[in-house]
Parts: sequence; C-alpha cells; structure tokens
Amino acid sequence: MEVLKRTLNKSDYYWKRANRVIMNGTQLYSKGTNINVKGVSPIYLQKGNGCHVWDIDGTEYIDYGMAVGTMILGYNYPVVNNAIKKQLKEGTNFSLVHPKEVELAELLVKHIPCAEMMRFEKTGSSATTAAIRIARAYNGREKIIKGEYHGWHDWCLADAKRNRGIPQVLKDYIFVGKYNDLDSYKKIFEDHGNDIAAVIVEPVEDKTEGPSNNFLQNLKDLAHKNGALFLFDEIVTGFRFSIGGAQKYFNVTPDMATFGKGMSNGMPISAVTGRAEIFEKIHKDIFISTTFGGETLSLAASIANINELSEKKVPDYLWCVGKKLKTEFNKITQDHDLQEYIKCVGLPPRLNLAFKTVGAIKETELKSLVMQEMVKRGILFTWTIFTSYSLNEKDIQKTMEAYVDSLKVCQRAVKDNNALKYLEGQPVIPIL
Ligand SMILES: Cc1ncc(COP(=O)(O)O)c(C=O)c1O
Repeated sequence: MEVLKRTLNKSDYYWKRANRVIMNGTQLYSKGTNINVKGVSPIYLQKGNGCHVWDIDGTEYIDYGMAVGTMILGYNYPVVNNAIKKQLKEGTNFSLVHPKEVELAELLVKHIPCAEMMRFEKTGSSATTAAIRIARAYNGREKIIKGEYHGWHDWCLADAKRNRGIPQVLKDYIFVGKYNDLDSYKKIFEDHGNDIAAVIVEPVEDKTEGPSNNFLQNLKDLAHKNGALFLFDEIVTGFRFSIGGAQKYFNVTPDMATFGKGMSNGMPISAVTGRAEIFEKIHKDIFISTTFGGETLSLAASIANINELSEKKVPDYLWCVGKKLKTEFNKITQDHDLQEYIKCVGLPPRLNLAFKTVGAIKETELKSLVMQEMVKRGILFTWTIFTSYSLNEKDIQKTMEAYVDSLKVCQRAVKDNNALKYLEGQPVIPIL
C-alpha cells in the first residue's frame, strides 16, 4: 500500500503560533502532540465527513479518534446537523429555561435505567464533579473510591503525577480501586468504611475485557453494605455499549451515572443522572449551577443523536464492527508473529491497541512505530480506537491493508532490536 505524499507545513506553522499563546498548545492533552508521533502525525484537523477527516494541509485520513469518542454517528451527520441548524435560527441560549431541557431529560429517563432525575453539564469532568458533590451531600460522608480517570477537577486528581495547584489535603479524601479486583475495594472499606461517600467506577475501563466474576454487581453490593453510593462514570461507555449505557448492557443499575462523549455527536453537553430520591433529598442544600447548562444547540443535537442511535440500532453496529476490527487486528498481528507484543484489547465498543516492551524496544516506541506507519498510509490512530456508525467495510479493509504494511516495519524493528532507527518523529509520551 502506497505511503501518502503529504506535508505538515501548515500544522507546524500553527503549532508554533499556538505555543506562544495557548498553554501546552491544546485544550485537551489527548489532542496534543505528545500523544502522537510529532513530526509524522498531523497536528491540526480542519474538516470531517463520516469517519474521514482532513488535516489543515489537505490530507485525508480515516479517523479512529472520532473527536475523542464524541462522534458516535460520524462527522457532518445530516440528522444532527439539521437539528442544530433549526435550533440556531431560534436562539442558542436564553434568559429562562428552555423546553428542550425537559425533552432531553425525559429521553434519558426513557433509555437509561438509573436515570430518574438529572442535571445537564457541559463536560465529563463537571458531570463527575457534580455526581461526587451530590453523593457527599446525600450521605454526609467525604471520602471517595475512584477508578482510573474521571476528569481534571480537584477532587479526583490530587493523587496524580501532575497535581501542582491542587490542595494536597484532598489526597486524604481519595482512594483508588483496581478494576475487576474486588479485594482492593474491600481493603479500603475495611480501613475507611464509615467515611466513604461513594464508589465511582467506569463499568468498562480502557484496555480491559469488561467485568469478570460479577465484579460490578459485587462492587455495588459492597458499597451499599458499607452505606456508600455506587456510581458509574459512563462518559465513555454511555450510548456505546447500549443506548442505556453499559449499565443496561450488564444489567447492573447504579445509584447515579454520568454521561458525556456519545451523548450529542460532538456537541458540548454532559449529564449527571440518578435515582430521584437522591436528588430530592439534597436539592435544597446544594449549589450546582452553570450559565451554559441550558445551551440549546447541544440540547437539540443530543435529542436528534439519541433518537438516531435508537432508530438505527447504532450500539449493535458498534459491537459488530468492533468485533470485526478486533478479530482482524489480532489475526494480522499473529500472522506477523507479533502477538506477544501488540494486541487489540477491550470489548468491541471500546477497543485499544496494547503494546509491550520487546528486547530494547520500549512499549511507547513500538506504539509510536505503529501509529507512524498507519498515519503515513492515511489511518489516524490517537488516544484510543473509537468506532462510529460511519465506519464501513471499505474503511476497515483499507485500515487492515495499512496495518499489514505497518507490522512489516515493526517486524524489521524487532529483528534489529531497534525501533528508533525506524521512527521518523518523536515517540509518544504518556499523559498521566
Ligand atoms: C471516563 C472519563 N470520565 C471523565 C472524563 C472527563 O471528560 P471531559 O474531558 O469532557 O471533562 C473522561 C475524559 O476522557 C473520561 O474518559
């Protein structure tokens, strides 16, 4: 398969300008240059259609980032575009509440098992932060057991590597549970049982094969036995595993859950949802309030998006297409004797490529090499693999052709025990 003739001139030009005026050059680290192979990957994208994107220098790619998983239907998707255009003519934000807030809330109640009441936010981080404040208010406790990542706000990042600016006292209020390891939670409850306000966990964490040994139900029972609320962070899994989220798919209903990425096909809206009794108990004593919470373009987009997901049975498609991708990736990897070091992992709606160190080649170097060779052939891998309703058989075929050629380069690197020799840019640097 031919390597594309590309330039990155405009990307480089903007990146230089960006670093003079934007801290880190990006609003989201998962879009920045560190997570891509700098010098080889495009930096700026300008246009999208379906699952295809065009960088600022005019090169077309098949996108497996899909705007960090938000474009669940695809870029430039007519049904959502039309809903936004229609709403735009009527107004984007108002001095009083808007009827679409009610319509969207009722739609979430219809689809999501735990959602009896809710509030809308704009980002995943503000939704999880609201959920934690509500949980603390509900049972008068302050400590939290969290999972891998729930956003950038103080309550969950006090213990992170990049934690400057966060009051260190908050470290005493946060514990980390290990996914699928009930004992790690039991230990925390043994030591702090009466102080834990809530357990917040992703129903399926990145690079895992989902819950095993009834993990989610057992964790829910453990939390309840200790008087803590049980929360799902469904910012990623929501609308992907099923329209009712991973909670519907696994038939484990949490007390509260947060939603974001798949909610509106790329528009900024999120939600904290849960049992009505929780919201009713605390609503007079809590303050959660935001100017753009009732912004109408996102509400309109979300309603159109969720109706389309339902009508077209999009989650079923994501399971199907994800299964195919995973099987093909792993077959090709095996054909190239690289299965010990490179593996497509995860459940079909949430896939990723996992890498291992091989000889002198570091895990990040191997990952960089695959990303480099794919992007040179028009396939854009970023933080994780996100599929969409727009990804079709032809796109998958092209992806696999590029993957075969990319693994051939990896094979040569492994044989030479040296990936840097083949890297044309800077290896990726993990964010946290
Ligand atoms: C599981 C999870 N929770 C919360 C967030 C935070 O969302 P946002 O970046 O919209 O604030 C993310 C973002 O990637 C996430 O993956």
